[in-house]
Amino acid sequence: MKRPIKKAVFPVAGLGTRFLPATKAMPKEMLTVVDRPLIQIVVDEARQAGIEHFIFITGRNKGVIEDHFDKQFELEETLRDRGKSAELSLLEADLPGAGQTSFTRQQRPLGLGHAVWCARDLVGSEPFALLLPDVLVHAEHGCLAQMMETYNDMGGNLVAVEEVPRQHIHRYGIVGVGADHGRAFEITSMVEKPEPEAAPSNLSILGRYILQPEIFGILASQDPGSGGEIQLTDAMIQLLADQPFHGVRFEGQSYDCGDKVGFLTANVAYALSRSDIGPTFRDALREIVSEGDAD
Ligand code: UTP
Repeated sequence: MKRPIKKAVFPVAGLGTRFLPATKAMPKEMLTVVDRPLIQIVVDEARQAGIEHFIFITGRNKGVIEDHFDKQFELEETLRDRGKSAELSLLEADLPGAGQTSFTRQQRPLGLGHAVWCARDLVGSEPFALLLPDVLVHAEHGCLAQMMETYNDMGGNLVAVEEVPRQHIHRYGIVGVGADHGRAFEITSMVEKPEPEAAPSNLSILGRYILQPEIFGILASQDPGSGGEIQLTDAMIQLLADQPFHGVRFEGQSYDCGDKVGFLTANVAYALSRSDIGPTFRDALREIVSEGDAD
């Protein structure tokens, strides 16, 4: 019997420098894709996968994330007075229950590995999910839910992976591929941001993980790696020596919303897929693109 995954960690303490000045006073994770903040979209994905406790690693200027996952009595009262029941139900449906969220501060953005380590006491000695909110996966059946199915078969540690073009390999953590089990395969090695010729494959680690709690012990003594930051991949490389790791090829379209073009593309794709605004937006987009072509 695999130990069930009930907790998910969301690191949201980064500086979001690629989105300045938008992120000067507002967290990157509150940027919206159409009308939903990035962090809400990944929390929805985790809830769909059966997660019951949501742990946010925050920092200065991130208080609004905590407010977002709280009731807004004045707003709700006003909506009620005005008979706006659809909006009210939407707010209620989006909110995890009382006691299902925890927030801790990273204090200094020392890297993703350090942010994850900050969750050690809140996670305790159980396996957990980790979702990076600047990576979205647009899928009917969420990426984490797909990973949970693999976890229930195989246990151990899992990372979602996808193919990346050769010229982008140096931006990602890349995995080496061992025995294939269909959707999942054994990971034999991991390299953070390799040159294409040194990369073991073209499969990159995407931003969705299921990890065993032993990762915390490794992170506790992890030295800074690439970019002077404490890297999660370095700790996973150590864990790989002792525990099974599998890569999961998921169904769905991913968007790197930490990057401007990825973020804008996600907005277009999510907007086009919406039944309320999709058709009108498609016409508006067509007009802009054809005007651009005519110039
Ligand atoms: P990123 O590297 O994409 O976020 O980290 P960033 O550092 O905020 O972005 P740029 O490069 O400066 O634009 C992925 C996720 O990990 C969190 C970020 O908030 C983001 O959600 N993170 C990163 C932390 O929580 N702490 C860190 O020290 C670094």
